Amino acid sequence: MSDFLMIQRPRRLRRNPAIRRLVRETLVRPADLIHPLFVVPGEGIRKPVASMPGVAQLSIDQAVLIAQESHQLGVGGIILFGIPEVKDPTGTDARNSSGIIQRAVRAIKDAVPDLYVMADTCYCEYTDHGHCGILHAVGHDCQDVDNDATLEILGEAAVSYAEAGVDMVAPSGMMDGMVAAIRRALDQHGHSAIPILSYAVKYASAYYGPFREAAESTPAFGDRRTYQMDPANRREAMKEATLDVAEGADMIMVKPGLAYLDMVRELRNRFDLPLAVYNVSGEYAMVKAAAAQGWIDEERVVLENMVAFKRAGADLILTYHAPDAARLLQDQR
Ligand code: PBG
Ligand code: ZN
Repeated sequence: MSDFLMIQRPRRLRRNPAIRRLVRETLVRPADLIHPLFVVPGEGIRKPVASMPGVAQLSIDQAVLIAQESHQLGVGGIILFGIPEVKDPTGTDARNSSGIIQRAVRAIKDAVPDLYVMADTCYCEYTDHGHCGILHAVGHDCQDVDNDATLEILGEAAVSYAEAGVDMVAPSGMMDGMVAAIRRALDQHGHSAIPILSYAVKYASAYYGPFREAAESTPAFGDRRTYQMDPANRREAMKEATLDVAEGADMIMVKPGLAYLDMVRELRNRFDLPLAVYNVSGEYAMVKAAAAQGWIDEERVVLENMVAFKRAGADLILTYHAPDAARLLQDQR
């Protein structure tokens, strides 16, 4: 046996659960988890999303119950996505004081005032064409989202959510200047205390497939590659995050999660803001599908993924596993 091996034996610190617990470096708390909910019009509705077992579209009354459950499990907060009764070219429902999100926020804050409620702030669920903003007028040289016109209505939506009582807004549309526009609009309307979580680094990803079923937000034509980022780009992500921080983002997010943990680490090293990661619908669907086949141990995989996000540097994890993971974390001491 070499002298070196006599001295260097990392396995000494892995011998039993007690020592492994003592030297564990990364901990996940239920409070680190944000539970995304899909809210639809109607009452008594829990319509399962086929590609996301365990996830359903919820009418407001049911969303209140799920929010209550998540709160009792110690989940850190929820983020709401609204699917309106009527979609139109400019997504009017998103800035209507009695729109789906506004009513959901009021009902949930009423029933569970201590629960932290965020609202995804984007137009793709509200527009009839399914893009994340309003389109250039017909006759314009490209059939694409009109960035600056969209900034205008993003500000209006954010103010409307704030007026309904939301705790934080989370713009996810990857429009240039969206954080500054929302900050300005909120401040002008007396909501300077409402923070912004920017989806700063959001890639044009195939992992969003199941979400688009859940949110009924598949673009009617084209794709989102003129606003969401190319998965190949890292420097560009630093630029996006730098701009959002300069525009006044209070927290920033990387999305998707598992295939982009390098970006989570890069942002953690570069910025001193709280950092979130979105464990997106396709990542959830893959875990659920493999678990349903008996090919993986779902509970262990879920906790392993959560610890990976935190180890990479995320403070917060937006995940559909939130209630399940919170339950598992409570059993685990
Ligand atoms: C909308 C939005 C999307 C997601 C969150 N907000 C989808 C998209 O860009 O099409 C994806 C979430 C998920 O896949 O779980 N801007
Ligand atoms: Zn969108």
